[in-house]
Amino acid sequence: MEIVVPCRSYVVRFLVLTGAGVSAESGIPTFRGKEGYWRNFDPAKLATPEAFERDPKLVWEWYRERRQRIRNAQPNAAHDAIAKLARHSDEFLLVTQNVDDLHARAGVADEKMVQIHGNIFMTRCSRCDSSRNDYENDHDHEKGDFLPRCPICDALMRPGVVWFGEQLPWNELQRVENYLDRGACDLAIVSGTTATFGYIIDWALRASRGGGELIEVNPEETPLSEFATQRIRESAAVALPKIVDQVITS
Ligand code: OAD
Repeated sequence: MEIVVPCRSYVVRFLVLTGAGVSAESGIPTFRGKEGYWRNFDPAKLATPEAFERDPKLVWEWYRERRQRIRNAQPNAAHDAIAKLARHSDEFLLVTQNVDDLHARAGVADEKMVQIHGNIFMTRCSRCDSSRNDYENDHDHEKGDFLPRCPICDALMRPGVVWFGEQLPWNELQRVENYLDRGACDLAIVSGTTATFGYIIDWALRASRGGGELIEVNPEETPLSEFATQRIRESAAVALPKIVDQVITS
């Protein structure tokens, strides 16, 4: 596999876009695969404001299980490769749709990463602005039937993730827009996502405008595939370390 990175100026800019497939090899189920189903529930129907309104206990149970699974998981070779690329780049942004913390644990610094669908370990009020990070605190409120309530306004607390039909977080969105506005990228890598959301395709195309390389790493075809300059039909943990090593030595 020969990766060609067109270096059009002194500064080398990268954009990496990831989705659930990048964490699949760490044992975190993807959304749209069969293994994504939880007790016969389709995640796409649980990750909605309507589902939370109807049955907050069920939705919390699902997220508590996912939190626990993520706590017990380890970053895989794909997360490590992306962190390595971040360390070796002049300009780098990772935009992940993943709400897990595996990119962070692999070593991608906060300022080089945008979690565009939120962070599963945040718990925030469904009414006011209060929020807290529950990464360490998985004891009381995550047990049994207990539903966390806001200490300020007493409304139900909810996971700090973006649900279907909700707006993307404005600050994070601005960080992506600002990065892309500052210039095109020499290389954009999109891995482990079905790219079902238009903004993922849009960001990949904007990053690679003007001749930048656009590499898709996904065992399956996606709506982005037709735009990619290189399509690598391998798993992320197999392909990304090879790509990153070639980019760094090129
Ligand atoms: P999906 O579950 O839709 O897609 C996972 C993608 O990863 C598929 O295209 C698989 O072919 C690919 N894949 C699976 N295993 C892989 C591997 N080992 N290496 C590389 N690719 C692999 O996940 P996303 O596209 O991330 O949003 O889903 C996007 C969003 O939809 C999620 O963030 C979530 C979901 O509903 C919200 O909750 C708002």
